[in-house]
Amino acid sequence: MSLRSLLPADAPSIAGWARDPEFCREAGWSTSLGRQAHLEFQDRIISSPPPGLLRLGAEVGGILVGYVDLHGTAPDTRELGFLIGERDRWGQGLGRRAAAAGLDHGFGELGLKVIWAEALEGNRRSMGILRGLGFTETGPGTIGEFRGVTGVHRRFALSAREWGLRDAPWIPSL
Ligand SMILES: CC(C)(COP(=O)(O)OP(=O)(O)OC[C@H]1O[C@@H](n2cnc3c(N)ncnc32)[C@H](O)[C@@H]1OP(=O)(O)O)[C@@H](O)C(=O)NCCC(=O)NCCS
Repeated sequence: MSLRSLLPADAPSIAGWARDPEFCREAGWSTSLGRQAHLEFQDRIISSPPPGLLRLGAEVGGILVGYVDLHGTAPDTRELGFLIGERDRWGQGLGRRAAAAGLDHGFGELGLKVIWAEALEGNRRSMGILRGLGFTETGPGTIGEFRGVTGVHRRFALSAREWGLRDAPWIPSL
């Protein structure tokens, strides 16, 4: 798994993931937008991302399988987000590897001190990844919707120090 900058040529691949309405429901993407609208949306995010959004493509064997977000403008902390495109790819550890690569980038290249993330109760996969990577729950976050159910996000955080200790013998290996 490696991370790289997204290019305009990636927009059709990412927009293509929206063909699957079940994927859209899990990812919180609109199911009512047409293909062209998804394409234009992804194109805009890549060519002029909103302030504070760093979105990196997650690649395996030269194939774009997802992306990782490090979002925020504070100097020492950002929010981690991650997505794996195509449901066929889920359940093989790619989400966990993408999130781990995002942490390496955030703590390594960006020199962040703390990375936080949010997950809704119903998003078991996301919650499993965060806990498995050593995130600690810090309290309630923003209101959100997962598969049509509104709830409060659970907020998690991980420090650079904790991430640096991940190879310690008492922490399960990645
Ligand atoms: C969340 C997401 C990235 C997970 O991707 P993935 O490639 O399936 O992730 P992994 O294979 O690493 O599995 C993640 C966890 O889900 C668990 N899992 C696998 N299949 C599952 C299922 N059917 N139901 C619930 N959990 C499942 C895995 O066991 C693993 O948990 P563990 O580490 O405790 O064992 C992917 O589902 C996705 O892109 N969802 C939409 C976007 C999103 O919700 N992003 C997270 C919020 S930022």
